[in-house]
Amino acid sequence: MASTAMPSPLCVTFLLFLLLSGASFYTIEAREPFACDPKDAKTKGLPFCLASLKAEDRVKDLIGRLTLQEKVKLLGNNAAAVPRLGINGYEWWSEALHGVSNVGPGTKFGGDFPGATSFPQVITTAASFNASLWESIGRVVSDEARAMYNGGVAGLTYWSPNVNIFRDPRWGRGQETPGEDPVLVGKYAASYVRGLQGNDGNRLKVAACCKHFTAYDLDNWNGVDRYHFNAKVSKQDIVDTFDVPFKMCVKEGKVASVMCSYNQVNGVPTCADPNLLKKTVRGVWGLDGYIVSDCDSVGVYYDQQHYTSSPEEAAADAIKAGLDLDCGPFLAVHTEDAVKKGLLNEKDVNTALANTLNVQVRLGMFDGEPSKHPFGNLGPKDVCTPAHQELALESARQGIVLLKNRGPSLPLSTRRYRTVAVIGPNSNVTNTMIGNYAGVACGYTSPLQGIGRYIKTIHQQGCTDVTCADDKLFGAAVNVASQADATILVVGLDQTIEAEFKDRAGLVLPGRQQELISKVAAASKGPTILVLMSGGPIDVAFAKNDPRIPAILWTGYPGQAGGAAIADILFGAYNPGGKLPMTWYPQDYLKNLPMTTMAMRSSQSTGYPGRTYRFYKGPVVYPFGYGISYTKYVHTIASAPAVISIPLDGRHARGNTTTSGKAIRVTHAKCNRLSIGVQVDVRNKGSRDGSHTLLVFSTPPAGHWVPHKQLVAFEKVHVPARAQRRVLINIHVCKYLSVVDKSGIRRIPMGLHSLHIGDTKHSVSIQEAKLGVIKS
Ligand SMILES: *[C@@H]1O[C@H](CO)[C@@H](O)[C@H](O)[C@H]1NC(C)=O
Ligand SMILES: *[C@@H]1O[C@H](CO)[C@@H](O)[C@H](O)[C@H]1NC(C)=O
Ligand SMILES: *[C@@H]1O[C@H](CO)[C@@H](O)[C@H](O)[C@H]1NC(C)=O
Repeated sequence: MASTAMPSPLCVTFLLFLLLSGASFYTIEAREPFACDPKDAKTKGLPFCLASLKAEDRVKDLIGRLTLQEKVKLLGNNAAAVPRLGINGYEWWSEALHGVSNVGPGTKFGGDFPGATSFPQVITTAASFNASLWESIGRVVSDEARAMYNGGVAGLTYWSPNVNIFRDPRWGRGQETPGEDPVLVGKYAASYVRGLQGNDGNRLKVAACCKHFTAYDLDNWNGVDRYHFNAKVSKQDIVDTFDVPFKMCVKEGKVASVMCSYNQVNGVPTCADPNLLKKTVRGVWGLDGYIVSDCDSVGVYYDQQHYTSSPEEAAADAIKAGLDLDCGPFLAVHTEDAVKKGLLNEKDVNTALANTLNVQVRLGMFDGEPSKHPFGNLGPKDVCTPAHQELALESARQGIVLLKNRGPSLPLSTRRYRTVAVIGPNSNVTNTMIGNYAGVACGYTSPLQGIGRYIKTIHQQGCTDVTCADDKLFGAAVNVASQADATILVVGLDQTIEAEFKDRAGLVLPGRQQELISKVAAASKGPTILVLMSGGPIDVAFAKNDPRIPAILWTGYPGQAGGAAIADILFGAYNPGGKLPMTWYPQDYLKNLPMTTMAMRSSQSTGYPGRTYRFYKGPVVYPFGYGISYTKYVHTIASAPAVISIPLDGRHARGNTTTSGKAIRVTHAKCNRLSIGVQVDVRNKGSRDGSHTLLVFSTPPAGHWVPHKQLVAFEKVHVPARAQRRVLINIHVCKYLSVVDKSGIRRIPMGLHSLHIGDTKHSVSIQEAKLGVIKS
C-alpha cells in the first residue's frame, strides 16, 4: 500500500481524494447505522435489511435495486452513499498490521480514542513461533478495531496482514512480514486472520486481507520500482513458495479478502490476471470474500505500465480478471463507460459487488443499529486496557532473539553491577520501536527507560541517529563506557533505512555505527551487550567474532513496550526463546544477487546463490531458526513411524519420476488425515524455566529440484527447569512432505525423508501403498 507517497501525477489526485474521503471521520460519537436504520420506515423492511434471510439472498436483493450508476460508485474504497436506499458511504481502507493503524483513511485517532495498543512489528512477533500468541494478538486488535468502529472513527475492513515472503534481505517491507519461510508465513497468516475475524462461522468481527498477491517483494531497487516491476517467476517457485502463504490464508484462515499487487507477474499485472484471481484465489482456493487492488494499481497498470490502450479496457480487464474493489477512484470513474462500450457486462459488475456486499453483510453492516451488534458494546474502555498492553509486552518478550551469550554474560546481575552505560542511536527511541503500518501507541517504554527500572543508567547517544554520519559523539560515549560497570549498546536501523519505497543498499550497519560499537567495546570497563533493533537482518560478523562483545540480542521493532521487554531479558526476569524468522546473510551474499531476480534456486552456471535457507547453502552470519536461551534443551524422539504408505486414489494408478526416483502427485494420493505423528521429549537441562520452540525440518530424498531442507512443523512448549515435556507433532504428509516439480506440480517423493529436530534426526521411508491395501 502507498502510505506516505505516491508516484506523480497520481499522487496529487489521490491525495486530494484521501483528504476528501477522510474529512467525515473527525467526529467522535456513537456511530449512526450504516444502512437499514430501524428509524427509517421506508427501508428497514426491505429484504436486504432482514437479518433472518440468508446473506446471499440479501445481497441479491440489494444488487437488484441498484442502477448501473449507483453500482460503479461502490467499486472504490471510498464507496458512495445510496441515499434513496438509506445506505451511507463507506471507507473500505483501514489497516491493522500489528495494532489498529491510521495509515488508511478509514481510521483516525483523537478524542475518546487517542491511541491503540501497538504490538511489535510482525517480524518480531513471528520470531516467537507461537501460533496461539498470533491469534491472541488478532483478537485484541479486533476488539480495539470494533470499539473504534462503534465510536465512529474506524472501519471494519482491514487490509492486513502482509504475507509476502521475505525473499531478499534488502526489502524495505520485510519487517512487515513473518519472514522467509512459506509455511511459517502461512501459519502466521491463518492464525492472525482467525484472531481478527473471530472464527465464528459466517459472521465476521472485522474483515482481514492477505496481501500483496503475488511475487511482490521489491519496493525500489537500482532504478526499478514496484509500479514498473515485471517479476519473472517460474511455475515451480509460484507453487512452491509464493502461493503457499496466500493459499493457507484463504483455506486455513478463511480470510475475507485478498489484495493483488502493483507488479506484473510474467508480463501480466496481477490485478488484471484471471489466472491468478478468478482461477486460483477464487476458484481453486475458494475465497469467500472480495479481491481488492493495491492503491491505484489499476490506474498504475494503465498510466505507468501502459498495459491497456484505454482506461475503460483497464477497468474491464480488472473486473473480468476477478477484481471486486479498487483502492482508488479508477473503477468508479471508468467502469460505466467500459460497460457502455461493450468491454464488460453489467453482470460482471454484479459479481464484483456481490463479493464486497457479502462481506459487509457478514460484518453486520446491514443489520441496523450498531449498538445491537454482538460487538456493539465495545467502546473506549476496551482500547489500551492493561491486559492489552500486557500482551504487547509479552509479545515483545516472546519475539526477542538471543544470538550470542559467551560466559554467559547475560542475564546481568544487579548485585554485581551498580551502573550501566546505555549507548547508541536506538537507545532511547519510541516511535522507531513500532516500525511501519503502526498507529498511535498507548504509551512507550524506551530501552533506556526499561533498563532504568532495574539499574542506574548513564546515557549517551553515540550517534545522533541511525545514519551515524560522524563521530562527534563518540568521545562522550567511550567515556561513559569506561566508567560504568557494564555497557548496553542499542543500535540498528529505522524507517529512514528500510521502509516502504525504500529497499536497503547493503546489509551492514549504516554510517559509522560499527566503528562506534568497536570503540565503545574496547573502552568498556565491563561487558558490552549489543542490542540490535531492525526489521531486516544485519551482517554483524564483526561483533559475533569480537570477544569484547560477549552478548548480542535482536529485538526486531519490539512495539510500544519494547524497552521493558529488552530489560526483562537483559536482567533475567524473562528467559528468551525467540528464533530468527529469516537468514542473516553476510554482506558478500549480495555480490551476485539482483533484487529483480526472483529465482529461489541457486544456479551454478551464473553463480547466483539462491534464496532463503531452503535453497542457499553458502555461509551465514546466523541461520534461519537460530536463537539461544538462558537454559539448554535436549530433544529425544520418543516415537515416530519408520515407514508410511501412501494410498493412491484408484483412478490414478501410477506416479511420476524425479531424477532420483518416483514422486507421486499429491492429487493422486488419498491425502485425507494422512499424517506422521512424532512424539518428542524436550528436557530443560538448566535451572531456569523457559518456553522452547521446536522446529521440525525435513530433508526430502535428493533430486535436482528439491529444497535441501524445509520447515514442516513447529511447536512452542513451556518446560520448567530440570523438567521434561512430551510434545506430539503431526505432520500432514501431502502438505508438508511434498515438493514441487519444474512444471509446478506438487509431488510426494518416495524414499527416505529425514526429519531434523535440533540435533536429533529420524528417517521415515515413504512408500506407495500396495494396491488394495489402503492403510497409512
Ligand atoms: C528519553 O526519551 C524520553 C521519551 O521520549 C524523554 O522524555 C527523555 O528525556 C529521554 N531521555 C534522555 C536521557 O534523553
Ligand atoms: C510426469 O511429469 C512430467 C513433467 O512434470 C509431465 O509432463 C508428464 O505428463 C508426467 N507423467 C505422468 C504419467 O504423470
Ligand atoms: C504462547 O503465547 C500465549 C499468549 O501469550 C501464552 O499464553 C503461551 O504461554 C505461549 N506459549 C508458550 C509455550 O510459551
